[in-house]
Amino acid sequence: MRAFVTGSNGFIGSSLVEKLVEEGYQVRCLVRQTSNLQWLQKKQVELYYGDLRTPAQLSPAVRDVDVVFHLAGVTRGHREEDFIAGNFTTTMNLLEACKNSGPAQQKFVFVSSQAAGGPSMAGTPLSEEEALHPISSYGRSKRMAEEAVLEFAHDRHATIIRPPSVYGPRDRDFFKLFKSCRFGFLPMIGDGTQKMSLIYISDLIAGLLAAMKKEAAGEIFFMTSDEVVTFADLARAISLAMGVQPHLLHIPLPLVKLIAIAAALSSRLTKKPPFITRDKFEEMKQPAWLCSSEKARRMLDFQSTTTLAQGMQKTASWYHENGWL
Ligand SMILES: NC(=O)c1ccc[n+]([C@@H]2O[C@H](COP(=O)([O-])OP(=O)(O)OC[C@H]3O[C@@H](n4cnc5c(N)ncnc54)[C@H](OP(=O)(O)O)[C@@H]3O)[C@@H](O)[C@H]2O)c1
Repeated sequence: MRAFVTGSNGFIGSSLVEKLVEEGYQVRCLVRQTSNLQWLQKKQVELYYGDLRTPAQLSPAVRDVDVVFHLAGVTRGHREEDFIAGNFTTTMNLLEACKNSGPAQQKFVFVSSQAAGGPSMAGTPLSEEEALHPISSYGRSKRMAEEAVLEFAHDRHATIIRPPSVYGPRDRDFFKLFKSCRFGFLPMIGDGTQKMSLIYISDLIAGLLAAMKKEAAGEIFFMTSDEVVTFADLARAISLAMGVQPHLLHIPLPLVKLIAIAAALSSRLTKKPPFITRDKFEEMKQPAWLCSSEKARRMLDFQSTTTLAQGMQKTASWYHENGWL
């Protein structure tokens, strides 16, 4: 079996590539001249140089593959048009290449995001049937890409996965919390009661493979651990994994809002992306970001087996072993 992976050198993509190679797939990895290839080095993979913004480069890449895993995307930015270009237009380009050049029976697995669905009510995890209300440019661009994939799925085999925040080895976002924990403090935005869903990287990778192997054309799945996590839970799990008792540094939401406004103003002057955006603030102030894996469990036999405590322990060990901490 041949697989083509976009976003192959990133956090989730490189873990997926590793698993596919382990399972005996021939893997073609989309990378750019500027991509950092540290996680793909010494791997039995074919590197295919191209950019999703350049449609002509994509057809040869998908011509002879059985499955396309589309993970490449833009998660950081501040202008709506950058997210649309990086998540929607790029997905359209890839779908067009698959339609024109990929074999008819080719499978397409698209990694969208919980952000496409939007936040949840405090006590009720979002399901795939509920109305969508993305609240960020990122979420809206992922939703637009989902719509394109659903359209494509009228005549092709395509499946959409919406993970919540993903953590584990190689991740740089949660790593910031581990780093500050090492220095003896953890910043806590708001009152720390926001409820969130999370997933450990290897559980998500198993889910992506299940989405490819099972019959799930035209379907959307949230994939998450069942644990409902607050910042207090997260802080406890990271502290235990690090063997450190950090001080919680409370940062009230109104202060975050002020910082986001100041960052936007300074970004206009410096022409550099703000380090915190209004979108991020809007996400932080929601009472809950919960989603449910019930459908994935039912249709894909998906299971998230890693608890928060275990996942954070494994992640901390990896950061230590790899000299990140
Ligand atoms: N991490 C999470 O918590 C999370 C949660 C939900 C959903 N997701 C989704 O999962 C996917 C992977 O996330 P990640 O955390 O692994 O991200 P990541 O580490 O930032 O990787 C992003 C990847 O996309 C590639 N890429 C971006 N634009 C491209 C383009 N125009 N052409 C070719 N490649 C391009 C990047 O290549 P370069 O290295 O060359 O830039 C990189 O390989 C994303 O679609 C993200 O939206 C992530």
